[in-house]
Amino acid sequence: MKIAVLCSGGDAPGMNAAVHTVVKVGTGRGHTVLGVRRGYDGIFDEDVAPLQLHEVEGISRMGGTMLGTARCPRMLAPDGIAQSAAALDRLGVDGLVVIGGNGSLTGAHKLAAVWPKPIVGLPASIDNDLGHTMSIGVDTAVNTIVEACDRISDTARAHRRAFIVEVMGRNCGYLAMRSGLAVEADAILYAERDIDEETLITKLRELLRRSFAPGRKKSRVLVVKAEGVKVPTARLVARLTAHLDEDAPGAAVRETVLGHVVRGGSPTATDRVIAQRLAYAATLAVEVGQRDVMATWDDPLKGGERTVDPSVRLIGLGDMLTETARILDGTSVVVKARLDLLSRVEDLLAL
Ligand code: F6P
Repeated sequence: MKIAVLCSGGDAPGMNAAVHTVVKVGTGRGHTVLGVRRGYDGIFDEDVAPLQLHEVEGISRMGGTMLGTARCPRMLAPDGIAQSAAALDRLGVDGLVVIGGNGSLTGAHKLAAVWPKPIVGLPASIDNDLGHTMSIGVDTAVNTIVEACDRISDTARAHRRAFIVEVMGRNCGYLAMRSGLAVEADAILYAERDIDEETLITKLRELLRRSFAPGRKKSRVLVVKAEGVKVPTARLVARLTAHLDEDAPGAAVRETVLGHVVRGGSPTATDRVIAQRLAYAATLAVEVGQRDVMATWDDPLKGGERTVDPSVRLIGLGDMLTETARILDGTSVVVKARLDLLSRVEDLLAL
C-alpha cells in the first residue's frame, strides 16, 4: 500500500514520534509511506515524498513536526474536499493518516465522505480539547507550563509579588487547570466557568489582601489563567495594580503570557509513547481498511472499538467530533467532571 501521513493545524510535541512510528511500522510491513509536507496544503500542491526509515531516525525527541504543518483554507472552500480527494488519487495514495486537532480531523471526516479509501486520524493538540481521548502534546505542554511557573515562582517569592501567568488554550481550559494544580497556584482561571470581570476583580483583590496581609509570611501569589478567559491579562494586572496601595502595600503584580513557548520543545516520554502507540494502531487500522476513524488514548467514555492495545480504541471521526463539540460548549460529562473537581478545591487553593 501507499500510506500517506500528514500533520495539520497547530503543531504539538509528539507529532514527530507519531510520524516516526507510521514510517517504521508501515515500511516494516512492506508499505510505502509518503510524507505530506505542510498539512493538507501538501496534498493540494502534491508536495509528497516517500519517507525512508533513516530519514526519520531520531525525530521522536524533536518538537514541532519535520513534515511541517498548516491551517489550510483550501480545505474549507466549497470544492476543496473534492479537489484534495482527486489529488490523493493522482498521487496513488491508498490510505491516509492525519495527525492533528479539531479542524484537521473535521477535514479528515469530510474527506472520508467523498474519498473511498482508508483514513485514520490521530489526536494531536496541546489544548486537550478533542473528544474521547487524551491528545498528543498535552503532557509536554503541561510540563512546560509547570517549569515556567516554577521559575516565575522563584522570582515572585524573592520580590513578594503576584503573577498572572496566561497559558494557551483558546477554547479549553485544561492546560490551566492541570498545570495550575501542579504548581500550587493560588487561583486558576478558565472560560468554562463564566465569571464576569467585576466578580473576577473582586475575588482577585480579596486573594491579594488575604495573601499579603500584614503578619502573613506568604511571599508569592500565582494565578494561572487560560487564554480563553475573555478579560485580557494586562487589564487584570492594571486593575489590580490600581488598588495595590490599599490591598497589599509594598507588593506588586506582574503578568507573563507564555504563548507559543507552551507549544514547542522536546516531547516528554509520555507524549512520545502515547504518539507511538496511537500511530501503531492507526497504521494497522489503515492496513485493514478502516475508514473515517480516529485512534483514541484512554477514552474516559470507552467509545468505539477495542484494539490490541488496552489504552487505544478506534472511534468514528463523526462521534469524536460530536463529543469534541460538547467539550467546547461545556456540555460534556468530561468537562463537568473537571469543573466539579476544580470547584471542590478552589477555596483550598486560595488559603
Ligand atoms: O494549537 C492550539 C493553539 O495552540 C491554541 O491554544 C492557540 O490559541 C492557538 O493554537 C494559536 O494558534 P496560532 O499558532 O495559529 O497563533
